[in-house]
Amino acid sequence: MSILVCGPKSWWFCKSLSQSLGLNGIEAESKRFPDGELYVRLPVDTRGEDVIIAQSMPPNQTESLWELLLMVDAAVNMRSRRITVFAPYIAYSRQDRVFLEGEPISIKVLLQSLSLAGASRLVTIDIHKPASLSYFRGTARNVIPAKTFCELLKRTVGEAIVIAPDKGAIDRANMVGRECGWRTDYLEKTRDRITGEISMKPKKLNVRGENIVIFDDIISSGGTVSRAAEILYEDGAETVYVAAAHALMTDGAIHRITRSGVKKIIAANTLPPKEGVEYIDVSREASEHLE
Ligand code: R5P
Repeated sequence: MSILVCGPKSWWFCKSLSQSLGLNGIEAESKRFPDGELYVRLPVDTRGEDVIIAQSMPPNQTESLWELLLMVDAAVNMRSRRITVFAPYIAYSRQDRVFLEGEPISIKVLLQSLSLAGASRLVTIDIHKPASLSYFRGTARNVIPAKTFCELLKRTVGEAIVIAPDKGAIDRANMVGRECGWRTDYLEKTRDRITGEISMKPKKLNVRGENIVIFDDIISSGGTVSRAAEILYEDGAETVYVAAAHALMTDGAIHRITRSGVKKIIAANTLPPKEGVEYIDVSREASEHLE
């Protein structure tokens, strides 16, 4: 039996996670000192116990991460047996290589820091590139909540084609497609050599008259999925839906996506709820990997 600690950035999912795990989640104490420094405390004796620390990494990402590192250290100081971090959204995952000379590999720094702090197991939801998890020096599990997504998508859409907005997202689209028994495809981005304009085309499928679910890991500005929706409508798609694991939804994202004709935005509850997004609860699927 583990002790579940609900970090300050878990308030919107920790209750249902507690229920899924059959545990009584204990809320970590947290505050900010007048000079801006953060303080956390685990109000439970974890000596000799397995501990699960639940904390996502919404903006302000640095604050979320720092609170998490402090909670892991607090669990180490109490001589906990095994420390598992459940971080449904891992920030900085898109800076996973040096794109321009002089850049850091941010996700490497983040995951190595978690290991150094004392976490030995990590469970997350649909990280941008699963290969990045090799920077974590313990056991790491990436959960794609295809089953939960598919249940809601079938109820909402009926039948559809799942389309990844670029080739990099095809694996997650395939998992959802396989679960629902739907076809999948991805958009190929091309750039006009003279005008510089970007166009996207489904690789092999004709989308005319079809319902489409654009499936991606992250929606931030909404630029990627709204451009994809416009292209799919131009190609004759009937109705376009958007589903993603992480709805960051920065300013204007909802408006941008709605304006492109997207009928509904569905996301996993890995980040704090935003208006205009319908959420699926991934606690049950995640909890299977936390036992
Ligand atoms: C990029 O590689 C990611 O998978 C997402 O497609 C991207 O982060 C979405 O960002 P935005 O909503 O700002 O277009």
